[in-house]
Amino acid sequence: MKRSVSFAAVAAVVVSCLSYAGAGLAYPSEWRSWQHVKSMVIPDKAHGLYGFHHVYVHPKALAAYQKGKGYQEGATLVVPFYEVAEGGGAVSQGALLKVAVMKRDKTATETGGWRYGAFDPAGKALELDAKVGCHTCHEAKKDREFVFSEWAP
Ligand code: HEC
Repeated sequence: MKRSVSFAAVAAVVVSCLSYAGAGLAYPSEWRSWQHVKSMVIPDKAHGLYGFHHVYVHPKALAAYQKGKGYQEGATLVVPFYEVAEGGGAVSQGALLKVAVMKRDKTATETGGWRYGAFDPAGKALELDAKVGCHTCHEAKKDREFVFSEWAP
């Protein structure tokens, strides 16, 4: 997580991203069996990206993820967002809130060759404007093919 990301802008962007036309991406329901690479918690409920996040990488995209480049057509990365559950001296994941997806697609020229999607816990697509709601922020990572998180051995 880079602290340079403007959190003030996040809430506005995410709210807007849920109110535009959908991106037409299918829900990759098998993501739970992919490689879990890292987790992050944003405990502030007022934050646009509130939640307990994990990053999952499709096995075929793992080598590129580890290198930080070379994502092939179809490579898919997923972030489920869970409630932040605090109690008994522990912070843990609560109920699933939504699932964010990026899939390599060279026809998605307006969004850096990635198709973005977001889904509710039942796998129903949430409406979004992939360019405004997702890619504008991911664009900061152009040198890593628009992927923020990094492999931590
Ligand atoms: C304000 C910036 C911002 C916006 C807007 C944003 N993301 Fe991200 N996204 C991030 C950051 C930061 C990470 C890395 C999280 C981590 O390191 O745990 C990330 C991670 C991801 C990942 C895992 C791969 C990676 O880049 O690390 C996916 C998939 C993803 N986001 C999808 C989406 C989708 C879909 C949307 C739009 C609905 C979206 N993101 C909107 C900042 C953003």
